[in-house]
Amino acid sequence: EKGGYDYFMLKEIAEQPKAVADTLLGRIDGAGSLTLDEVRIPANVLREVDKVVIVACGTAFHAGLIAKYAIEHWTRLPCEVELASEFRYRDPILDQQTLVVAISQSGETMDTLMALRHAREQGAHVLAICNTNGSTIPRESDAVLYTHAGPEVAVASTKAFLTQLVACYLVALYLGQVRGTKWADEIRAVVRDLSSVSGAVDRVLETMEPVRALARSLAEKNTVLFLGRHVGYPVALEGALKLKELAYMHAEGFAAGELKHGPIALIEDDLPVVVVVPSPRGRSVLHDKIVSNIQEIRARGARTIVIAEEGDEAVAPYADHLIRIPVTPTLLQPLVATVPLQVFACELATARGNEVDQPRNLAKSVTVE
Ligand code: F6R
Repeated sequence: EKGGYDYFMLKEIAEQPKAVADTLLGRIDGAGSLTLDEVRIPANVLREVDKVVIVACGTAFHAGLIAKYAIEHWTRLPCEVELASEFRYRDPILDQQTLVVAISQSGETMDTLMALRHAREQGAHVLAICNTNGSTIPRESDAVLYTHAGPEVAVASTKAFLTQLVACYLVALYLGQVRGTKWADEIRAVVRDLSSVSGAVDRVLETMEPVRALARSLAEKNTVLFLGRHVGYPVALEGALKLKELAYMHAEGFAAGELKHGPIALIEDDLPVVVVVPSPRGRSVLHDKIVSNIQEIRARGARTIVIAEEGDEAVAPYADHLIRIPVTPTLLQPLVATVPLQVFACELATARGNEVDQPRNLAKSVTVE
């Protein structure tokens, strides 16, 4: 059942190219339009939407944070992302023009379920992004877009996360299509990019041996920090979460722009810091700023572990370890940048003798508060 892998997590990491491709399958017609029939919320309702609110927990919340960049960019709608456990105990401002997107692999997470119930009581429309057919969250939503990751057994979410991202991109593009802020040729171009990402994930997986060796060499460390900005910021948060839950190490993700506002005080000699570098072609300003950040932390002794695009030579002089990822459009980069962080956490957990598929104190679906 583990298909020759030592752990379900390794199997599920390896299944990601297929999971990504499967989640796109049948959702784009020959003309390049999205045919998301599952999104049964009528077009006239979607055209009236004036705000998107995403609710989720844990890794699914990180997918939501990334979705915000895509939704704002492609639809020009304001988008908020909320931890479901916080959302449900506030008085969020929602009405019939709010589209609430609930993201959940299991479809049974209590906090996310309560958040969507709360949203529907206020008249909001709820779209679920879910990996589990017939589970409670999709049953209680107005519509559901299923991720086709297949069953995820390891407690730490990997392939479900990548497919949640794909589903979020599809929702963002679909909203753009329905609302007319995104035109067929643009959608076609993004969909083409999305389709080729599956191959890019495959290429990342083929180059993971140095990442494993690096992870093993860090088994005695106590702390690892993660930095990113723009969509790389939630990727940094996700890398830190994976390391906490699997390796039981102190790990924190920061927005690189926040370094000077506090976190830089943590930098000390030989502290491993993973930096997710934005594409130099997309937002070159952000790229240059993060290169400066890498220089700054290295000057203070950090051991820099840099995840950067193939061909990005500017980072090379400041990287103690350089992990290459394929060239990808800026908004889609998380699909490739997250993979080395999953492998890194899995290998560190193994090196530290931890139970990879069943980390201590955690459950696969959290059906209590
Ligand atoms: C992290 C992880 C958890 C889940 C969270 C939400 O690897 O697995 O953080 O992402 O408990 O679960 P779902 O997506 O089932 O609602």
